[in-house]
Parts: sequence; structure tokens; C-alpha cells
Amino acid sequence: MYILSVETSCDETSVSVSLNGKEILSNVVLSQIDIHKEYGGVVPEIASREHIKGITYVFDQAINDAGLTYKDIDLIAVTEGPGLIGSLLIGVNAAKVVSLNYGIPIIGVHHISGHIYASHIQNDMKFPLIALVVSGGHTELILMKEHFSFEKLGETQDDAVGEAYDKVARVLGLPYPGGPVVDKLSRQGKETYKFPRPMIDSGDFNFSFSGLKSHVINLHHNMKQRNEEIVPENICRSFQEAVTDVLVQKTINAKDKYKVKQIVVAGGVAANSGLRDKMNELIKDIPVYFPSMKYCTDNAAMIGIAGYHKYMKENKVDDLMLNGSSRLNLVEE
Ligand code: KG4
Ligand code: ZN
Repeated sequence: MYILSVETSCDETSVSVSLNGKEILSNVVLSQIDIHKEYGGVVPEIASREHIKGITYVFDQAINDAGLTYKDIDLIAVTEGPGLIGSLLIGVNAAKVVSLNYGIPIIGVHHISGHIYASHIQNDMKFPLIALVVSGGHTELILMKEHFSFEKLGETQDDAVGEAYDKVARVLGLPYPGGPVVDKLSRQGKETYKFPRPMIDSGDFNFSFSGLKSHVINLHHNMKQRNEEIVPENICRSFQEAVTDVLVQKTINAKDKYKVKQIVVAGGVAANSGLRDKMNELIKDIPVYFPSMKYCTDNAAMIGIAGYHKYMKENKVDDLMLNGSSRLNLVEE
């Protein structure tokens, strides 16, 4: 089954072709980072306009790279949400045009299910598993007992972890997106500050990063006022140690409680070197899988893999009433 997949939920215009939910034949990603960098974050209106400019080229390039034509495609999978509504609509409508034009069935895919399935590209899933989803918009622990079944164990009560990274970076005067830069600097710094580990002993699987973020911002502000020397590397390291301690500890708690066979880390923050090191250092009894770097941040390949498994599980497709939805639950609540 050849799947054409589409991802436009934020600031990447991406189309991919995959085979049978496993093999990636092409994955074209047009990133808008350089444009949004100027504003220190994603500007939704600009993101929508850039998706419009790039979408046709990205579709054709993905088909060409795969060495196929649109007539070879069996199913179209498109991110229907959550995300920026203007951005989502461009991908969903482009996908519907191709669906209508070539008579190809279409299926809407949840963005987070895509992030989770990014791991499946290189490593087969064994159930039950715990997925730690850490991105710019999400921080969640999810239990999967079988393919395409998601049980939310807990989530952030305020900021997502990637969002906290981006805000700390902004205060330190570092470019957007902040996560990769803070990560890089933290490797050159020392943990000179003992920042709080929010909710580490809360006994549940929820998170909170807004207080930690404010703690870092206040420290920076006070040091600046007192004209103290600021070493960004040390602040970054101290922040990263606090964040990763909480993420890893909660993941271990979930692993032990649900006796899972593997852990899958998903989303943009899965690229974080401190998180990778700490997970691998502290979890030895079962495998911890991270997607390869190119599949950590938003891309359409992961949507193709998730779309395949959604179709296999539910055995139904959507129709042309499919629409983008800025808020969409992964788990029915
Ligand atoms: O999954 P993603 O591409 O978009 C969302 O769905 O949100 O994640 C983007 C987020 C940004 O907040 C970015 O700063 C963060 O992932 N990120 C990182 C790293 N690479 C990307 N955060 C920490 N360390 C990294 N190496
Ligand atoms: Zn994402």
C-alpha cells in the first residue's frame, strides 16, 4: 500500500510517500524556521502564507523522489490536528484536492500519533509500551496496549517542555527555536544552579514547566540587575538537568507501574542530547527508542506510518468533509 502523507500543522510544509507503514520512499520537508526566526517564534499568518507558497512544489517533489505518479497512490494520510488552524487547512485542502482528482481515499491523522509512530520507522513496536511525547505543544505520557490505541496517563498542566525551552532561550537572547541551542550550550556548561524539579514526587504522571521556566527567567533578571556575570552555558545546563530529571523519573514510574516492553520518546524534544543520555543511562531493563534526528521534528513520513496503522486498525477512511481542527484529542475523553 503506497501512502502519500501530508503535514502542515505548524511551520514545516512536508509531504512523504511510504510503503506499507514501514518504508519511507520520500520525505520532503520545507522548513520556515529562517522566516519565523526574525520574529522569535512562529507567526501563524505568515506560516499559512508560506504553506500556500510551498505546498504544490512539495507534493510534486515527494511523488518524484519516490519515483511514482499520483495514480500509484493507494491512500492519502493528512494531519487534521491539533495545530495552527490556518496551517492545517492548507495541508488538508491540498490533500482533499489530490484525493478528489485521482479518486484516492483519504484519512485524517492526529499529529501526536505521527510523532509516536516516527519511532516505528526504525524499530518495531512491542506492546504494551510507554510513549513520552515531548514537543513544542505537548508533554504527555501515553500507554499503548496495541497498535493505534492510546491511553493518556498524564500531561503538562501548563507549558509544554519545548515551549519552556524556547522561552528560556528567548530570555537568554538565543535564536528561535531555542531547544537545539539550549541543548548545545548545556553540553558546554555545569549545573551551577539547583533548579526545582516540578511535580517529580507528585505521584501521578502529570507535568508542569511554567514555574521552572519563571524560576530561570527571574534568576536571569536578578543577575542582570545586580550586574553579575551570566554564563548562559551554566543556566542552560542547570535547566536541562532539571527538565530531564523530571521527564526520565516520570517515565520510569510509568514503566514500572504498567510493566511495559519498551519506551518510545517522540516529538521535537526527543532530539535533546541530555534526555537521550539520561534515558539510556537510567533505563537498562527495556529498550528506549528515539526516532532518528530527521524524524524528531515535524515531518510527513511519521504521518504516513501513523496513517497506515490507523487504517489497519479502524479499516475505514474519511470523506471530503474531513477538516482541520486546531484542538483535537488523541484519546477520546
Ligand atoms: O515536534 P516539533 O517539531 O513541533 C511541535 O509539534 O511542537 O517540536 C518543536 C520543539 C521546539 O520547541 C524546539 O525548541 C524543540 O522541539 N526542540 C528541542 C530540541 N530540538 C528541538 N528541545 C530541546 N532540545 C533539542 N535538541
Ligand atoms: Zn510536532
